[in-house]
Amino acid sequence: MAQAMIGVIGGSGVYGVDGLEGAEWRRVESPWGEPSDALLFGTLGGTPVCFLPRHGRGHVQTPSSINYRANIDAMKRAGVTDVISVSACGSFREEMAPGDFVIVDQFIDRTFARDKSFFGPGCVAHVSMAEPVCPRLGDALETAARACGITVHRGGTYLAMEGPQFSSVAESRLYKGWGCHVIGMTNMPEAKLAREAELCYATVAMVTDYDAWHEDHDAVDVAAVIRVLTGNAEKARALVKAVVPAFGGERAPCPHGCDRALEYALITQPEA
Ligand code: ADE
Repeated sequence: MAQAMIGVIGGSGVYGVDGLEGAEWRRVESPWGEPSDALLFGTLGGTPVCFLPRHGRGHVQTPSSINYRANIDAMKRAGVTDVISVSACGSFREEMAPGDFVIVDQFIDRTFARDKSFFGPGCVAHVSMAEPVCPRLGDALETAARACGITVHRGGTYLAMEGPQFSSVAESRLYKGWGCHVIGMTNMPEAKLAREAELCYATVAMVTDYDAWHEDHDAVDVAAVIRVLTGNAEKARALVKAVVPAFGGERAPCPHGCDRALEYALITQPEA
């Protein structure tokens, strides 16, 4: 059994961890540049946890200016084994209502202005993203969310858009027509980089709005998002407090191979 550390990346409205024991903010250097902020270390029920506010304290980074490589690399260097991404999102489904949480299992990446890989000329790797979410981590999140009384949907496709503007009605209808369930601006390339870093990764997408497709609801704006965000953030903090100790600090290798993603991914020949 290996020692595990849960990394929590908090999105809009989620800027800390409730009940953290031995809490300490520490800067972690990365050759990929500046992470969004220092990392907050501590334990929950004896399980090590490390928290990073995705937009930085004070919400200063835009979805496009976030240094996703530095964030994931800093977590890896800190000893994180499993990343829980907590993110606000819009919904394309009537039944995924504002206030509900969705543990997504697929992504469509429509971002275009971000560094998306740790690899490049000189060292080429192609990891599999067929199943981008760790089912073991998803199971733990689903169980903890139900225990917290949160309305949670298991499975769904998250469309990652560049932003920072919200979608037009035509775009919103298009993504809904593609079969997407939720939309957000931050989970890509985060999920891809977590896979390259051989970290288990799962997203808790917290629905704040119905984006722009819904005839009975106004198109999304920041005021609408913020109205729902506060309640969602409170539930997210309860969820983190419940899931970390339940998931535990000792871990068998990932049954789905997230922690061995590079085993068959490197294509560059080692130097003779
Ligand atoms: N975050 C919260 N709601 C969103 C939406 N409708 N589109 C993109 N990102 C969001």
